[in-house]
Amino acid sequence: MADNAQVALRAEGLRKHFGGLTAVSDVSLDVHTGEIHAVIGPNGAGKSTLINLLSGDLTPSAGEIMIGGQNSSGFGDITRLAPDRRARAGLGRSYQKTTIFPQFSAQENVRLAAQAHAASPLKMFGNVTSDADVNRRTSEALEQAGLLARAQMTATHLSHGEQRQLEIAMVLATQPRIILLDEPLAGMGQSEARKVVDLIASLKKGRAVLVVEHDMDAVFELADRLTVMADGHVIASGLPQDVRVDPAVRLAYLGVEEDAA
Ligand SMILES: Nc1ncnc2c1ncn2[C@@H]1O[C@H](COP(=O)(O)OP(=O)(O)OP(=O)(O)O)[C@@H](O)[C@H]1O
Ligand SMILES: [Mg+2]
Repeated sequence: MADNAQVALRAEGLRKHFGGLTAVSDVSLDVHTGEIHAVIGPNGAGKSTLINLLSGDLTPSAGEIMIGGQNSSGFGDITRLAPDRRARAGLGRSYQKTTIFPQFSAQENVRLAAQAHAASPLKMFGNVTSDADVNRRTSEALEQAGLLARAQMTATHLSHGEQRQLEIAMVLATQPRIILLDEPLAGMGQSEARKVVDLIASLKKGRAVLVVEHDMDAVFELADRLTVMADGHVIASGLPQDVRVDPAVRLAYLGVEEDAA
């Protein structure tokens, strides 16, 4: 299948129960290298749970997660891998709530992320090269996230938008091939959002990006593919222009009837 060549991350029949509640129900999707795949849906639809399943922060009740490009024939099964092993396999993520150390500088935060990723059981032999590598990855990540000029500033003194840029820099420092972002624009003003939207757009070059976001203007600007969830289910998936006019989506999510504006 030619299409498989570009699939960086695949979920098949994913399900997650929390006691009697099914937060994610039979969700399948492909995230392609070079594309931004947006996941939208009302509060409680299961979007963060889906990201947690993909990242390994939660274990699925059923279904499979595969990572592409693992060998010449395609996929590696990562369904049971711990989050740090997935990170090593090229999967990076940000959280809906911040994970920044507020009293550390931007650079120190990014360095910690780079170091956590580089940590090796062979530390005694790995230290010298890995320090140089950590430094390089730290400055590259700060630069791509547009934070080089802010590198020495204490994280708590960065603007809200810059803190989200910092979180993305921390993800970039782990050199992921696949990036999962949960509400990167949450609580942001328009001019701050503009910067972060541009940054997110830049991430897909050579990488696969899955982004959960409520800001519809940003979603329709960024997304190459769109999956809509409601009550744990995928109710529509495809190209944004097709999903946008899907009657089920308009009713269940956008809350408008067929004939409404
Ligand atoms: N750890 C948990 N234990 C029990 N229930 C949970 C847990 N995490 C999420 N849920 C429930 O699962 C459902 C889906 O939650 P989830 O956080 O995935 O939604 P979401 O689409 O990310 O919503 P939002 O847009 O508000 O962030 C909700 O009903 C939520 O209350
Ligand atoms: Mg959420």
